[in-house]
Amino acid sequence: MGAKGKHKSQQDLTQAISELNKSFSLITDLVQLRDNFVARVKEITTTKYVTVFLMDHDYDRYYPIGKEVNNVSELEGVFFQPGDKLIFWLNVNKTLLNIPQNSEVFSFFTDREKAVLQRIEAVIVYPFVSMNQVKGLVVLGEKESGNYNPDELRLLSILFEQASFAFENSLLYMQQRERASKMYRADRLATLGELAAGAAHEIRNPLTSIRSTIQYLKNRITDREDKSMAEDLINEVDRINDIIQGMLSFAKPVELRIEETDFYQLICQTIRLVNNSAEKKGIKLELDFDSDFKIIFVDTGQIKQVLINILMNAVQAIQKPAGIITISVRGLTSEYKAFDRNIYYLIEIKDNGPGIPQNLLDKVFDPFYTTKQEGTGLGLSITYTIINRHRGDIEIQSELGKGTMVKIKLPGRVTIKNEL
Ligand SMILES: Nc1ncnc2c1ncn2[C@@H]1O[C@H](COP(=O)(O)OP(=O)(O)OP(=O)(O)O)[C@@H](O)[C@H]1O
Ligand SMILES: [Mg+2]
Repeated sequence: MGAKGKHKSQQDLTQAISELNKSFSLITDLVQLRDNFVARVKEITTTKYVTVFLMDHDYDRYYPIGKEVNNVSELEGVFFQPGDKLIFWLNVNKTLLNIPQNSEVFSFFTDREKAVLQRIEAVIVYPFVSMNQVKGLVVLGEKESGNYNPDELRLLSILFEQASFAFENSLLYMQQRERASKMYRADRLATLGELAAGAAHEIRNPLTSIRSTIQYLKNRITDREDKSMAEDLINEVDRINDIIQGMLSFAKPVELRIEETDFYQLICQTIRLVNNSAEKKGIKLELDFDSDFKIIFVDTGQIKQVLINILMNAVQAIQKPAGIITISVRGLTSEYKAFDRNIYYLIEIKDNGPGIPQNLLDKVFDPFYTTKQEGTGLGLSITYTIINRHRGDIEIQSELGKGTMVKIKLPGRVTIKNEL
């Protein structure tokens, strides 16, 4: 390329970069930001492949942004880990890696890393560095024609540095939005909880006298049919009582009784409890427990309750043959200070049921929200309260027609007073 042509393309590049830079401050949605970034970088460089990875602290891996929206199978297995040699190299050098020009660096990567890089046709790898750490990376494929020249790479580096701020901002923004909606939910739950507790107390007393009166009348009835009617009434009263009990336990949860437990055993026991109901509907329950540690400090009774609530919801939701529920458990170490002793479990319970419409997803944690004839609508609000009291985190994702996933983060250890 002649000097003039090169100059012109540089000008184009500079202009494209300044335009892209402007758009960074306007876009806060991560996937939208990625789409915009990727489209412009493709345009500028004429490469077909641009992949942006960001650290996902839940999994301690660098994943391509928007793996949920992309075709998952296409990207399955495409991720990097903090211990990868590529990440090590980027952390040390904090500069872009031009793979064809550094074949000795490439040859030192593991086979898995090489395979991933080849799958995304990697030629240029640029690290997003913040606080002296690699927080993400952008990977470019080959150009349609020619190679990346040094001037171009220098300009791209400037652009990528700006982009890394934009991606980090957008990530923070999303986390903040999520936190705000969680706080709103907790607030709503607390208010409703107080109301429920008040109502429960008011209802309980008259209910006790209704029950004992029916019992008294039943004993005096001689006609068999009438007697059985009275029995039905008692059963119904008991059902109301159970609901009230649920309301109370949600509004005023009993103290946590933290004990050291084998988490794997706890989950197996719970699965056995649910398995009967699952088998009746031909639903398979699968457990994938992958953790270097098994111990957990929790209130076992309450955590069992949580797992039963979620598993039963899945069992009840599935209305088709070949139903399947998978429980995946990962033991992870955490950077988050909120989690004591640095270990926590990531529990994902997935079903292939009908899913929940997006506009109702936020309602499922509300007390008394139910779509079931026999449901109280308290299962998930109790679950939420219990997880919260264990200083964990719970969220639910769902896609209509595909299924539902409940994701829980549970600290391996909850500090208890007498331990300090
Ligand atoms: N896995 C799931 N698939 C589809 N819908 C679900 C799933 N889990 C929960 N839901 C929806 O969320 C609602 C609330 O669930 P929650 O467990 O709080 O109450 P419930 O199951 O209706 O009643 P209860 O738990 O008292 O039996 C359910 O009625 C259902 O509509
Ligand atoms: Mg339920």
